Amino acid sequence: MAFPKIKIGMVGLGTVGSGVWKILHRHQALLSQRAGAKLEISKVIVRSKKKKRPVRLPAKVLNSNIQTVLDDPEIKLIVEVMGDVRASRQLALKAFRAGKHLVTANKALLALHGKELFQEAKKNRVDICFEAAVGGGIPILRALREGFVGNRIDSLYGILNGTCNYILTEMSERKTSFPETLKQAQKLGYAEADPRFDVGGIDAAHKLAILVSIAHGVFVDFPKIFVEGIQGITPFDLECADRFGFEIKLLAITKKNGDKIQARVHPTMISKDSMLAAVKGVNNAVFLEGDFVGEGMLYGRGAGSEPTASAVVGDIVEVARNILAKVAYTVPPLGTHAAHIGNAAIEPIGEWRGPYYLRFQAIDRPGVLAQIAKILSEFGISISAVHQQVREEGREVPIVVLTHDAQEKSVVKAIAKINRLKNIRRATTLIRIEEFCQ
Ligand code: NAP
Ligand code: HSE
Repeated sequence: MAFPKIKIGMVGLGTVGSGVWKILHRHQALLSQRAGAKLEISKVIVRSKKKKRPVRLPAKVLNSNIQTVLDDPEIKLIVEVMGDVRASRQLALKAFRAGKHLVTANKALLALHGKELFQEAKKNRVDICFEAAVGGGIPILRALREGFVGNRIDSLYGILNGTCNYILTEMSERKTSFPETLKQAQKLGYAEADPRFDVGGIDAAHKLAILVSIAHGVFVDFPKIFVEGIQGITPFDLECADRFGFEIKLLAITKKNGDKIQARVHPTMISKDSMLAAVKGVNNAVFLEGDFVGEGMLYGRGAGSEPTASAVVGDIVEVARNILAKVAYTVPPLGTHAAHIGNAAIEPIGEWRGPYYLRFQAIDRPGVLAQIAKILSEFGISISAVHQQVREEGREVPIVVLTHDAQEKSVVKAIAKINRLKNIRRATTLIRIEEFCQ
């Protein structure tokens, strides 16, 4: 049987784009049978046509002018895997206005300009699909929009950045250094073009913004998401976490708290016995609680060429099926119909309450711990454990304190006061402890 042909223009042929090219060629027959159409990438846009590529493609396919995919009337679907937010926004808007569907892996684009793009896609009755933007190869967005649609999502905890999870795992298990491990993550194609987005927690926050929108049916003002990265985590913190029965993970968390929504990304200590603690290396996972389904977890490879390309191809097939059926927008991209999407009221981080791990860098001398304990008690913070590994009188040593549940704003004030003590030599490290899915 001859399949109708659907022509695709792909912008970007780096880590993700070359994976997409590979899958579409290796599985051409299989995908034709599944989509009901022959999927052909007829144009690929890159910055430099001279660069050496991991895939071979006919010279006539490669181009460096984005406008050529927009101007080609035969191209019905554009796959954006270039990652430049400004250029991608322009491309998306022009594509929609030209009646072309869009598949993108660009979480920054959606976190910052999602509202505008969803409106424009709807206005032009075209699809915008972005499964690869969150969780790499894990189809979490489709699961939230469709499989879990019968539930109110009460809480969601995600390990959403493969680079950070890889770094924390390697530092903890192989005792490698932070810079060396980051370099390796870049070599493996996990990191963003600017890896500060990964280690600073921004990439995970971009993904969280998308998840919050789908989980709670709201638009998120991105700067309101609390973000803290993993740059301050030391091998000593990882060792201490282990001693106390915890793992440190960069978690992206959203919870409903009355009419407020928590949306935060930060290094988090979680019990070694929890399912998320078992997620190692580049893997991602989303642990969620729905009011009817209960607890569930989706797990898989969160970054890299092939897992990400797998998610992109899933979207390509969805759009191809819609093109054949002459429909678009059958499932709203955020899972809730546009007219019913409000703006999220994000709870300030100061309202958070829970236990903390605090590492003070103090001069080892009698009375220092008493000073710290006194200030913590002034702010109503109760201590559950204290640990000092080394005794080096008169020299700087780490002193670790675990607290019972305390209010973030009180902890922040107490730490500011403690940091001013003359025996405290550096800013105190604070890591929140989450107790869940034990
Ligand atoms: P990448 O390896 O840096 O590849 C980017 C590609 O886009 C390159 O081929 C580059 O051309 C091209 N490009 C960049 N800016 C361009 C412009 N202004 N005009 C034309 N072409 C341009 O990036 P990547 O890792 O594949 O990531 C692509 C997107 O997927 C990003 O949004 C990223 O956040 C997202 N993503 C990545 C992963 C991952 O694991 N890597 C996972 C999920 C989502 P040249 O090759 O000529 O330089
Ligand atoms: N840089 C991202 C990560 C790629 O490490 O998770 C996947 O989105």
